[in-house]
Amino acid sequence: MARENWNSRIGLILAMAGNAVGLGNFLRFPVQAAQNGGGAFMIPYFTAFVLLAIPLMWVEWSIGRYGGKYNHGSLPGMLETMWDHPISKYLGVIGLFISTIIIIYYTYIESWTLGFSFFSLTKEYFGSDTFDSMSSFLGSYQGKGEGHFASILPAYIFLLITMAMNFWVLSKGISKGIEIFAKIALPALLFFGIVLAIWVFTVGTPDLIKHPDWSVAKGFAFIWNPDFESLSQSKIWLAAAGQVFFTLSVGMGTLHAYASYVKGNDDIALSGLTTASLNEFTEVILGASIAIPIAVAFFGLNQTQEIAAGGAYDLGFVSMPVIFQQIPMGSYIGFMWFFLLFFAGITSSVAMAQPLISFLKEQFGFTHKKATAVIGLSIFMCVNFIVVFYEYGVLGEMDYWAGTFSLVVLALLEVIVFAWIFGMDKGWRELNAGSDIKIPLVFKFIIKFITPIYLIVILVFWIKQEAIPTLMMDSVEPEQVPYRWLARGLMVTVLGILLLMIKKASSKTGRLKFKMREQSGEDDV
Ligand code: ALA
Repeated sequence: MARENWNSRIGLILAMAGNAVGLGNFLRFPVQAAQNGGGAFMIPYFTAFVLLAIPLMWVEWSIGRYGGKYNHGSLPGMLETMWDHPISKYLGVIGLFISTIIIIYYTYIESWTLGFSFFSLTKEYFGSDTFDSMSSFLGSYQGKGEGHFASILPAYIFLLITMAMNFWVLSKGISKGIEIFAKIALPALLFFGIVLAIWVFTVGTPDLIKHPDWSVAKGFAFIWNPDFESLSQSKIWLAAAGQVFFTLSVGMGTLHAYASYVKGNDDIALSGLTTASLNEFTEVILGASIAIPIAVAFFGLNQTQEIAAGGAYDLGFVSMPVIFQQIPMGSYIGFMWFFLLFFAGITSSVAMAQPLISFLKEQFGFTHKKATAVIGLSIFMCVNFIVVFYEYGVLGEMDYWAGTFSLVVLALLEVIVFAWIFGMDKGWRELNAGSDIKIPLVFKFIIKFITPIYLIVILVFWIKQEAIPTLMMDSVEPEQVPYRWLARGLMVTVLGILLLMIKKASSKTGRLKFKMREQSGEDDV
C-alpha cells in the first residue's frame, strides 16, 4: 500500500501546530516565566528559540520527510537511512521512547481537563470556593485523600473517554483522522484562547474598594517586568531551553513522524516556520495573558506568587475554578478554559502515539487498525500505573527523565547525525528542497556549530545541577522513593521492549525494512 500523505497544506500546518500547541503553552509557560525572572525570562527563551528550537525544528522536518521517502515514520529507520551504521537504528530508539513515556502521563492530565470541562458546565466544583477547598476537590478527584469525590472512579471514566478519543482519531489515519481533527480543534482552541484573553483584559480591577492593588495590569507587570539580575543564573537558561523544547515538541520524535507524511519534495521550510510561529503566538501572547494576570486580579500578587511556585496544576485546576465561581457566566468561561486545554492536549497526544503506530505497521506489517489497537491498549495499561501511584511522584519522575532530560539528548544526537554524519551540505539541500522561502545561510552555520555546542553546554550544566541530584533522589520524600524506583523500572522496561522490537525487525538483514516511495520526480539528495 502506498504511504499516506497529508491532504492539504493547511491541514499539515494545523496538525503540526496542534502537535506543538499543548498544555505546555497555557500551564507550563506562565508558571516558568513567573518563576524565572518574569520579562527577563524572555531573553534566554528567545535565544533558545532562535539558536535551538528553529534549527532543530527544521532538522526534524528534514529528517522526517527524508525518512518518509523510505517509508519510515519513526526515528530508528530515519536515522538508519541517514547514517548507514548498525548502531544508528538503536540510537533512534530514544525517539520512540520519549513519545511513549510522555503520552503515558500526558493523557492522564489531559483527561482531567475533560473532566473539569464537564464539571464547569454542571457546576460540580461550585461551592469549593476557596483555594483550600478547591485543592481538596482536585486532590479527591486524583484519588489523593478525602474531599468531594469518594473514589477515583470519575477520574477513571474521563480517562477512558480521553483514551478512546485519542485512539479513535488515530484509527482514522493521517489525513482522515489527525488532519481533520486538527482542522476543527486548532481553530476552536485559538478562538477560545482569544475570547479568554479578551475577557481577562476586561476584568480590570475586580474589587476597587477593598483591593485597589489587585488588578490585571499588575498581573501583566508581574509576568513581564524583567528581573535582569536573574539572567546571571544558569538555572534560568536551563528552564528557558527546557520550555522551548517542550512547547515546540522538539526532541520528542513526533515532528519527524508527522513530517514523514509530507509528499516528495513539498515545502518544509516555510510550513515549519509557520507552525513554530503559531505556537509562539499561542504561548507568549495567549498563554501569558490568561491564568497569571487573572490570578493577580483576584488573589493579589503575594498569593499568585505562591500559586505559581506551587506549579501548573495549582494555577490551572485550583486558582482558575475558584475565580470562575466569582464571575458572571463562570461556568461557561470555565468550560471554555478547560476545553481549550483539552483540545490543546489531545492534538499533542495523538502525535505522541503516531511514531509507535508507524513503527508497527512498517516493520511488522500490522494493519493500521491493528497497530492502533495494540498501541492504544499497551499505553492504556501503562496509564493505570500513573493513576494508581500518582500521589507518590511517579509522574514527576517520568516527566523529568523523558519529558525534560531526554529531549536534549535526542536533539544532540539528531543534529550530529544530520549535520556531521549525513553531512551539512546534503542536509542543507534536503531542507531547502521544494522550499517556499529562502532560509538565511547563517542557519547552515548555526545548525552545524552553534546548536550542537549550545546543546552540549546545556547538557553539561543539566547533568551537574539537576540530573545527578534527581538521580540520587536528593530532595525526594522518603515514602516516595520506592515508587519512583518503580517508575524508573517501568521506563527501563519500555526502553528494553522497544530495543528488542528494533532488533527483531532487523534480524533478517541487519537493517530495518524500508521501501522506496513510488513517486515520480523523487531523487535522492
Ligand atoms: N508541545 C506539547 C505541549 O506544549 C507537548 O504541551
